[in-house]
Amino acid sequence: MVRLLTGHDKPQLPETHYLDNRIFTDEAIFREEQERIFTKTWQFVCHESEVDKPGDFRCARIAGKSIIMVRGADNVIRGFHNACRHRAAEIVRDESGTARMFTCFYHHWTYGLDGRLRGVSKPEGYEAVNLDKSTLGLVPVRSESFAGLVFVCLDDGVEPLREFLGDIVKGFEEPLGTIPLEVFHFHKAVLKTNWKLWQDNNSERYHALLHVANRKTMPWVLGKTSPMKLRIEAHGHSGYWADGGEAVVDYAKGGYSDGAEGALPGMRGDEMRVINLFPDLMINIRSNVVRLDRMVPLGPDRTLVEWRGLAVKGDDARMRAIRTRQHNLFWGPTGRNLPEDVLAVESQARAMGTGDIRYSIIAREEQLNPTDDANIRSYYREWGRRMGKSPATLA
Ligand code: FES
Ligand SMILES: [Fe+2]
Repeated sequence: MVRLLTGHDKPQLPETHYLDNRIFTDEAIFREEQERIFTKTWQFVCHESEVDKPGDFRCARIAGKSIIMVRGADNVIRGFHNACRHRAAEIVRDESGTARMFTCFYHHWTYGLDGRLRGVSKPEGYEAVNLDKSTLGLVPVRSESFAGLVFVCLDDGVEPLREFLGDIVKGFEEPLGTIPLEVFHFHKAVLKTNWKLWQDNNSERYHALLHVANRKTMPWVLGKTSPMKLRIEAHGHSGYWADGGEAVVDYAKGGYSDGAEGALPGMRGDEMRVINLFPDLMINIRSNVVRLDRMVPLGPDRTLVEWRGLAVKGDDARMRAIRTRQHNLFWGPTGRNLPEDVLAVESQARAMGTGDIRYSIIAREEQLNPTDDANIRSYYREWGRRMGKSPATLA
């Protein structure tokens, strides 16, 4: 007689093909991820258009630390720890803005846009000890950009950004890096879910079945094969896009007929690409508009997600309206797809939190068709390598 497996029995699958759900709920694993993953990978902070002019700054939280990105008078974008060298107050308390210099609100020490300590208030008090200002600049953070995307890395031992990205850049360097783009949409929300469940949702295509719009506009969702293939790259990065040829998004079928005008460089009017960078950035390009998802994990079951929309700088009003509609139709806070995804990942987190279902199955093998789980398996291989434990057995 066949015995039914309980929710705690291991699936009868290779260890690479399932996950222990405690990686999504456990507090100690969450803290370890901050240390072993978020401080040791290149983290996307903002698009360069968000620090467009000298003095423009933007703050971000990475692995629990506050970081300032600022464009200097020399046009270089630099990153600093947002902490005063006097007694460690945060020198910038706004999320973004424009400054001529930074004045710490506590005792008024001032710093230049290049991080140098320019002045201390009531300097006569430091004469007796000969305080050397040149040694007390803001503490820099490594920062590099690629295709308009600004990244930082908290660890000096990590490889340069371009090396970390590897060949996954093929999916986005032309549409994002050969024409000036700007952030035209920004919204954020705290999702009641684990950060990896949002990244999984952004990576796996099997769940296109969830979306009313995708069932209509993407023939492969209900069919068996697709001209789009998963791309599995080094370091846990993956993506999917078509190599020309066939239509990949049939907008007309969904009644979204003006979607394709003004396609970005290298993109077809009916093309969609998704690029998932390890550990937590998604770049989604829908013919003429780009969506970027950045995450700030707050706890095992809480994740702040920032959503950015990119459009072409200098669009006229008509073209911008087309891109805005195309973006918001699917990805706005009340768009076709985004609220459905949020429902799914919050429901997962609620059920996983009970501990009744111990394992998730990532076992689909379909020659890299979009609904293959190969990209998820590759992602968790990288997670396991960095965490020093198998995501299936936790050993
Ligand atoms: S902590 Fe910044 S000036 Fe004192
Ligand atoms: Fe989705």
